Amino acid sequence: MKFDIVTIFPRMVEATLADGVVARGIERGLLDVEVHDLRDHTTDRHRSVDDVPYGGGPGMVMKPEPLARAVRQIRERRGDPATVILLTPQGRRFTQADAVRLSTLKHVVLLCGRYEGMDERVRTAVATEELSIGDYVLSGGELAALVVMDAVGRLIPGVVGDSRSVEEDSFARGLLDYPHYTRPSEFEGSRVPDVLLSGHHEEVRRWRKRAALRRTLERRPELLDAAALDDEERAMLGEIRREQERDHERD
Ligand code: ADE
Repeated sequence: MKFDIVTIFPRMVEATLADGVVARGIERGLLDVEVHDLRDHTTDRHRSVDDVPYGGGPGMVMKPEPLARAVRQIRERRGDPATVILLTPQGRRFTQADAVRLSTLKHVVLLCGRYEGMDERVRTAVATEELSIGDYVLSGGELAALVVMDAVGRLIPGVVGDSRSVEEDSFARGLLDYPHYTRPSEFEGSRVPDVLLSGHHEEVRRWRKRAALRRTLERRPELLDAAALDDEERAMLGEIRREQERDHERD
């Protein structure tokens, strides 16, 4: 899978490609990532990528031409991308479902915004979609682009060593993850639940499922509306809800 990232801070992006999951994907030849310095696509002496806003006001606005030129050059050198994503807090919220969708594509371009914003014509004429990684404002799209690339990259078969850890991930099925434990069996007075030491695979499986449901219900109940629960999970959820109601009545 090909990624092209357009940024005014190429070093910031390149530094994170040296280690971790995306680095391994690159080493294994599964990910082909190129970072493009937006200033290489300017034509003036000062290599300007921004200008004052029409209509006045504070801050600077990113000019459309360097971004359009960068994407045109990517098309010529690397082929037509399946999507050109603008990272912006104005975008639709990026979710695991987007990560799965993007992981099926051959070529994704990520455009990182800086300054107060981008000229609107980047959105309409250059980008094909806009994504936000959350309801907060970063000082630029670089970290957001790296978040998207990490979440997508780890779904490419072979990038993460054990594919089971991807399938069982939090959110892979729309639920939060169950609690994990390793040795020692007792840490600062807190013991690992007995069932996990029992060697009963079926009981462990049920305990984990129930724990994931309980956690999701307590922390992110809205996820349960969209999660694809099986019959066993629906029954467990009913039990957990009834338990909680009993606990409330007792309080
Ligand atoms: N650029 C600035 N803030 C952002 C956010 N929350 N998501 C994506 N890109 C951004």
